[in-house]
Amino acid sequence: MLKIRPRRLRLNENLRAMVRETNLSVKDLIYPIFVVAGENVREEIPSMPDCYHLSVDNAVELAKKISDLGIPAVEVFGLPEYKDEIGSSAWDMSSPVQKAITAIKKAVPELVIVGDVCLCQYTSHGHCGKLCGNYVDNDETLKLLQKVAVSQAAAGADIVAPSDMMDGRIAAIRAALDDKNFQNVSIMSYAVKYSSGYYAPFRDAADSAPRFGDRKQYQMDFANVREALKEVELDLAEGADIIMIKPALAYLDVVSKVREKINRPVAVYNVSGEYAMVKAAALNGWIDYKRIVTENLTAMKRAGADIIITYHAIDVAQWL
Ligand code: PBG
Ligand code: ZN
Repeated sequence: MLKIRPRRLRLNENLRAMVRETNLSVKDLIYPIFVVAGENVREEIPSMPDCYHLSVDNAVELAKKISDLGIPAVEVFGLPEYKDEIGSSAWDMSSPVQKAITAIKKAVPELVIVGDVCLCQYTSHGHCGKLCGNYVDNDETLKLLQKVAVSQAAAGADIVAPSDMMDGRIAAIRAALDDKNFQNVSIMSYAVKYSSGYYAPFRDAADSAPRFGDRKQYQMDFANVREALKEVELDLAEGADIIMIKPALAYLDVVSKVREKINRPVAVYNVSGEYAMVKAAALNGWIDYKRIVTENLTAMKRAGADIIITYHAIDVAQWL
């Protein structure tokens, strides 16, 4: 006779809920937004259904809705009004990102605002740093990233999130923030960011694709996991408060390994391509959207993520 029957605890939903090991909460989520110049702009992004380019006024309205839904944070990306060789609109206080951060902070002070710190949306060549020939110069780029982080903190960001993958950027940004008395602004490091095909819809949305070459000299090779642990170790030593892994779904082994190794919060970025695939299949009626999204996000938490940056956040908040 069978003494142990795992099926006993699966008999009904209340029993299953009692023994459920992982629960998805609206408090786990960060919603990314794309801000543009102008007024009353709300244009759907073709490769990311239900995501919009928003002018600052509409971004504020959305931020209120996000906060009312219980989502604790937004991450702000921007499309600037001008681009140049060094991406100087990235630290211009009158650029859409800085204006949106200030306006959202004023309208919804309790909403946590994350600023994405990078240069690719702002440089004429689309790379994440300053070029020296065709090479992205690491140490020169650090000086520019410091300016971006400080400008976002000055605008009112609670967290800055560098996504450029330059070496030493966490130490450089921490020093710059502290120097300007932003000791309490946290750094969420895109510590483990792979060179990935899953970013394509975002690059369309943010007009940030590299105009030549690719990002393989700075983003990680997706074949590597030991190297991910090294990146995490360095960023923690340099003062990162939260460690992010990106993309999420194809990298849950990395999430799980990092989770076992560190005692700081782990975030994942459920990126644009992951979102677009699910949306496209759902719009075709090939999958059940709610089921698939719940399964995917629960898997990210099960692997060890505390925080999930996801374009699904508003949908999920409405179900939970
Ligand atoms: C670049 C950046 C990328 C994303 C956000 N910032 C990736 C890239 O273009 O290399 C991707 C986000 C997404 O795909 O949702 N700093
Ligand atoms: Zn970039």
